[in-house]
Amino acid sequence: MLRLRSTYTLPVQQTIRIRSTRHGWCAVDNSLHDQETLVKIGIIGAGNVGSVLGRRFLEAGHEVTISASSPASPRLAEAASWGANVATAAEAATWAEVVLLAVPFTELGATLTVDVTIALAGKIVIDAVNPLAADFMSLLLGHTTSAGEQVAARLGRSCVVKAFNTILASNFASPELGGNRLLLPVAGDDPVAKKTVLELGKQLGFDAVDAGALTNARYLEPMAELLIQLAYGQGMGTNNGWTLTRA
Ligand SMILES: NC(=O)c1ccc[n+]([C@@H]2O[C@H](COP(=O)([O-])OP(=O)(O)OC[C@H]3O[C@@H](n4cnc5c(N)ncnc54)[C@H](OP(=O)(O)O)[C@@H]3O)[C@@H](O)[C@H]2O)c1
Repeated sequence: MLRLRSTYTLPVQQTIRIRSTRHGWCAVDNSLHDQETLVKIGIIGAGNVGSVLGRRFLEAGHEVTISASSPASPRLAEAASWGANVATAAEAATWAEVVLLAVPFTELGATLTVDVTIALAGKIVIDAVNPLAADFMSLLLGHTTSAGEQVAARLGRSCVVKAFNTILASNFASPELGGNRLLLPVAGDDPVAKKTVLELGKQLGFDAVDAGALTNARYLEPMAELLIQLAYGQGMGTNNGWTLTRA
């Protein structure tokens, strides 16, 4: 289980590994993948995804700083009421060790400003973004690229890991649905960053599975769209999600 670090401040003599990955440069505190380490988690986007996951990370013992498109967002006032720190996206990114990106795909350009991009350099960025069309009923891209890869291309010096995009936000509150643990596929190119995200997912109770390289976001994003089709196109509602059975 995770244990609290004695201080949130990283030790001065910490070992930072800087590696060239398929999508850029990555500098990650080696200790973050330790299951027993408390993590400073920044969240960009305080909507359905950011608020529920933020609350769950906080309940799991991590420290959470959350941001929205504007300091005046009522979602930030709500987040403060359940114990999150609130900040701008650049402040949250600067403060955090791991950042969850949970904004609409169409807002990526407005969100990942120069300030935010610089602040995210060397950090683990969990990309939960699905490239949904305005009516949510199709994807704007796929097969040859993905939102995950496009985020990584924008954040050339961050460790981007695709995760939490295949679960409907209403089901983040509990990792179990119908008696089954929900699958949490995690895709990324940096092994340390991916291990950190896998541990975070397991800590929240999900069936966190290594889904390979970041290019596999091309297949994880359609999984989300199919859930939306089942929920709204087929009228099944949102009480459904993916599980992985093994022999
Ligand atoms: N909803 C789901 O079931 C689900 C599940 C998995 C993944 N996803 C994906 O996760 C992402 C978020 O979905 P959501 O349902 O949480 O969306 P949402 O409820 O619409 O919330 C979006 C959040 O992003 C913030 N935002 C927008 N532009 C921003 C900017 N320029 N800088 C900083 N923050 C900005 C919004 O700020 P304000 O509060 O100021 O408006 C809001 O807090 C999407 O890409 C979606 O495809 C959604």
